[in-house]
Amino acid sequence: MRHHRYKLAVIGDPIGHSLSPQIHSAALQAAGLRGSYEAIRVESAALPEGVSSMRSSSYDGFNVTIPHKEAMIGLVDRLDSLAAETGAVNTVKRVGRSLVGYNTDVTGFGRLFDRLVLIAERRVRDVALVLGAGGAARAAVASLRSRGWTVVIANRTPERAVRAFGQDARVIALDASQVQAALDVAGVLVNTTSVGMDEPADSPLPRGVHIDSQVTVCDLVYSPLDTALLRHARRARCPTVDGLEFLIAQAADSFNLWTGVLADEGAMRRAAALKNTMTSAAAS
Ligand code: ATR
Repeated sequence: MRHHRYKLAVIGDPIGHSLSPQIHSAALQAAGLRGSYEAIRVESAALPEGVSSMRSSSYDGFNVTIPHKEAMIGLVDRLDSLAAETGAVNTVKRVGRSLVGYNTDVTGFGRLFDRLVLIAERRVRDVALVLGAGGAARAAVASLRSRGWTVVIANRTPERAVRAFGQDARVIALDASQVQAALDVAGVLVNTTSVGMDEPADSPLPRGVHIDSQVTVCDLVYSPLDTALLRHARRARCPTVDGLEFLIAQAADSFNLWTGVLADEGAMRRAAALKNTMTSAAAS
């Protein structure tokens, strides 16, 4: 497909902070492919019209981000089995006249997670604590469960977590004593909430909670990259993984689905880091 001109995009609301256009443009260039990748703001109420306009404008594929990942399930023609199981779509690919929904948050997180286990060398605790109950949490939970972890989900609104993960899921409130009890036996902590994005000094952990060095801490927030949670984890000497690693892992899997070409993750990371630095400089 060297002569094809790829037409790609991401839809979400808000979308201005997205690093995906930089990441995917860099991947296209590194692969020697022609094409474009736009960021398109689509409000929730306009999502069905937005998707039909993507359909008629002959996009090869597009990413779906906050807050549309769950609603997208009902708007595609077919679902890949992982997207169906997870209940969320983050990648859409056109196949003939059909739109097919995938979830590369699950596959991307899984690849990252396999690497983490290697970094940690051995797994002493098999409990993973996930903060949040939105689309990103669904992907993290699916990925962790498929790797044999016992997952505890802490959410500000516990009922939402029960709705998302079922009555049998281990759901706790985001309060200090329950979170501390879960963390004391956890080998992994994953933040999928948006806390830390608007107010960089905020941590999703309740005040006074202690993390010990046995916990590998992953924060999916990438803007800013250095979050209060990751600073806390580094002070506690925990291994850490930032949101850019996650963003690149899912982006590489989407790129591969659309183009059939393995993405150059180094080129993607350099492009994302450059945009992130320029944005922070402009904001300060
Ligand atoms: P995504 O699809 O990216 O996961 P989302 O569906 O909007 O995004 O989910 C955001 C998550 O962040 C939710 O778990 C939300 O908690 P609620 O279910 O209680 O709304 C969590 N969240 C957002 N702001 C928060 C805050 N200030 N404190 C704690 N949790 C917060």
